[in-house]
Amino acid sequence: MRLENQVIIVTGSCTGIGKAIAERCVAEGAHVVIHGLEKELGEKVVADLGKDKAALHIEDLTADGAPQRLVDIAVKTFGKLDAVVNNAAMITASNIHTTDLAFFRKMLEVNTLAPFALIKAALPELRKTHGAVLNIGSVNAWSGEPNLFPYSVSKGALMTLTRNLGDTLMREDGVRVNQINPGWVLTENEAQRKREHGLADDWYKDLPNVYAPAGRILWPREIAAAAVYFLSAESGPFSGQVLDIEQHPFIGRNPPKDATTIPTPAK
Ligand SMILES: NC(=O)c1ccc[n+]([C@@H]2O[C@H](COP(=O)([O-])OP(=O)(O)OC[C@H]3O[C@@H](n4cnc5c(N)ncnc54)[C@H](O)[C@@H]3O)[C@@H](O)[C@H]2O)c1
Repeated sequence: MRLENQVIIVTGSCTGIGKAIAERCVAEGAHVVIHGLEKELGEKVVADLGKDKAALHIEDLTADGAPQRLVDIAVKTFGKLDAVVNNAAMITASNIHTTDLAFFRKMLEVNTLAPFALIKAALPELRKTHGAVLNIGSVNAWSGEPNLFPYSVSKGALMTLTRNLGDTLMREDGVRVNQINPGWVLTENEAQRKREHGLADDWYKDLPNVYAPAGRILWPREIAAAAVYFLSAESGPFSGQVLDIEQHPFIGRNPPKDATTIPTPAK
């Protein structure tokens, strides 16, 4: 019960990592606002968690007034707001050649500006509770896959937002702002996305150990476990911190350039 009686908004929690974070928050004693674009899936999450523990709001985060409506639902339903998890994101592949300005703007609007707008709308409530913000970034924030170019930039900007506001809001308002950069996580949508990128139906079953030393990629519940730490009082005054979570170091990694990572023809 590390989040007993906390009220937490988790954006994009009808599926994947957001859903796992919301489930874990409730298991730790919190009330949650479930949010996203998928109405039927969201209704199922709320039914499974219980209507006394979870409320649902389906709306595009970039719609005018959407962040304020999310905050209002939390306060109206559960009486206060202790934390916001900015998890919703547009995860669409594109490289420099397939990216135009309109697409890049949309990516930044959903992945970077919407988290800013929600933090701003939530601040009056978070100030009262000395609450917390947790942004879900990505290891792509540091540079990123070529075919995730605007996505990677949006997560890099989110990381700077986390560090900047993690400083300001902690000093001025007693509100902590931290970020988790997950590595490669097996969610329903990620399984589908990689099929669309040309991988086999069961691509996640036999990955080279340079990507999956454990023989598998990460589970959403493993990200949720780390999220609870940053949302709970256990993380004390920590603010402006960014935690990469992968099964190998991300910054500075230099994998072996031998037959263990580079396929060599049989002699
Ligand atoms: N799965 C991975 O491998 C991985 C790795 C690193 C980071 N992440 C990050 O984790 C978070 C969750 O990703 P996931 O893999 O669970 O994806 P997902 O597709 O299952 O979830 C994304 C959620 O965001 C919501 N969403 C998207 N655009 C929205 C909009 N405009 N308005 C409102 N809601 C919107 C969707 O409804 C959905 O619920 C994202 O921030 C993603 O960038 C995922």
